[in-house]
Amino acid sequence: MTQVIALAGKGGTGKTTTAALLLKYLTVHGKTPALAVDADANANLNELLNLEVHSTLGAIRKELKGDLPPGMTRDQYMEMKIHQALIEEQGFDLMVMGQPDGPGCYCAANQYLAMTMDRLADNYKYIIVDNEAGMEHLSRLNLRKIDYLLIVSDPSARGILTARRIAELTGPLQLDIHEQYLIVNRAPDPIPSALQEKIDAAVAESKLQLAGIIPASEELVGQELSGASYLQLPDDSKIIQQAFAIFDRIFGQ
Ligand SMILES: Nc1ncnc2c1ncn2[C@@H]1O[C@H](COP(=O)(O)OP(=O)(O)O)[C@@H](O)[C@H]1O
Ligand SMILES: [Mg+2]
Repeated sequence: MTQVIALAGKGGTGKTTTAALLLKYLTVHGKTPALAVDADANANLNELLNLEVHSTLGAIRKELKGDLPPGMTRDQYMEMKIHQALIEEQGFDLMVMGQPDGPGCYCAANQYLAMTMDRLADNYKYIIVDNEAGMEHLSRLNLRKIDYLLIVSDPSARGILTARRIAELTGPLQLDIHEQYLIVNRAPDPIPSALQEKIDAAVAESKLQLAGIIPASEELVGQELSGASYLQLPDDSKIIQQAFAIFDRIFGQ
């Protein structure tokens, strides 16, 4: 069964960073094939993976509204287009959603697309969905279920509060979410005791489980500046060991 992992959290908290580190974790541990879905309209997961994007689902949806090539059904055409848009790498594929349709737009293209994505999903062990801020984006993605919702927070009292609110917001959205984890990112090391208390309270009083704390990392800053893929971060680097310990807690050894 395909396991769906979705990232949530305020803008700039580290969702895309966590998605890239998680993708490295899955590929290093042979938890593959994995599909990374960049569902941020301002796609940037590919940059952390040093991959070029040639097509997006948004672009395919536009093409579907036009004429089909002769002798092809809409289904065949779309399946072909989706496979062209998939960026295939060792152990994982990347799909970029691109620009969403305008608000309130109902179109058959969306339904076709959802159906094809559903079929595609069955090919993978894990699907990572890097999302933009706001849970309403997640509900637009037509995911059947979310096995793991990872809510990323900055290391502040208000950040932790926002993460809690996001966890509470998921109820009314009718998303089928199985487990919810809190990841506190970019934290000072060691973590101030007052912040640790806020985290403990948030976990005690909500459905959130604490996956762990990712410290602020010069290695990540350097990797981003150099433009090299996060997948190339050395396995024995501090940040990779810290991140992998967190993912071990969630996904088991
Ligand atoms: N643990 C960390 N240490 C240092 N810099 C980080 C860390 N996590 C994220 N960043 C930096 O913070 C910025 C925002 O992170 P990003 O993952 O793009 O956030 P989001 O996807 O939630 O908007 C990026 O420039 C990223 O390199
Ligand atoms: Mg992001």
